[in-house]
Amino acid sequence: MAIAGRAKKVTTHTLQEMKAAGEKITMLTSYDYSLARLVDGAGIDTILVGDSASNVMAGNETTVPITLDHMIYHAQCVVNGVDRALVVVDMPFGTYQGDTRLALTSAIRIMKESAGHAVKLEGGSEVVDSIKRILTAGIPVMGHLGLTPQSIYKFGTYGVRAKGDDEAERLISDALALQEAGCFALVLEKIPADLAKAVSEKLTIPTIGIGAGPDCDGQVLVLHDMLGITKDFSPRFLRRYADVGETVDGAVKQYIADVRSGDFPGDGESY
Ligand code: KIV
Repeated sequence: MAIAGRAKKVTTHTLQEMKAAGEKITMLTSYDYSLARLVDGAGIDTILVGDSASNVMAGNETTVPITLDHMIYHAQCVVNGVDRALVVVDMPFGTYQGDTRLALTSAIRIMKESAGHAVKLEGGSEVVDSIKRILTAGIPVMGHLGLTPQSIYKFGTYGVRAKGDDEAERLISDALALQEAGCFALVLEKIPADLAKAVSEKLTIPTIGIGAGPDCDGQVLVLHDMLGITKDFSPRFLRRYADVGETVDGAVKQYIADVRSGDFPGDGESY
């Protein structure tokens, strides 16, 4: 049986073994108990409590405003719904950059208060010291390179990153630095497929791609985007696997009609 199928609980070591065996790693975001339970029950390997909660849960334009308390709350809800998947929790903007002590304190709060299994943070060589400090507490760290949405005000757009040689070389050296620092895996977001392939081949730790082509060691999508709950976000890399937005719209409209007409509740739905 495949490694993922054998794992009673997925750990960072399972992901490492999956890469070594050439088995693709699956990852989706979740932010609440009910959907995390469904996603975990369906057999996903890894759940990311992404700071994309800022967009899809809170309706903010960027991931910048979400706080550590918000992330811990979402992570607690997800952990309560998960039996098997590895739960990785995003460290929000302002809780790890430029201050290794703050990074350690923030990561410890996430692990203690949410019972998540690992943290993820964005950036390359500039966050290596924070990563090393977090690792001293035995907390597994996932890196995140390419498009790093917490830096949206530096980039100015959500366009594809590392298209030029200089940025591509920087990304490769950052990926090696994160591996060297001790990250157990890396997210590669919105970079050319060839570059993601090269990075995935160079690293011994797994890469998880989003908009980074087919040759990463795994793939991640934002759950609300792939389910068709969010409608106003249609990047090229997104495949919609359902139209839950339509289903909800139809069900709510029918409910409204049934209540207004007196059809609901019927005799069988009354005491
Ligand atoms: O916050 C998030 O959902 C993410 C994924 C896009 C990788 O970081």
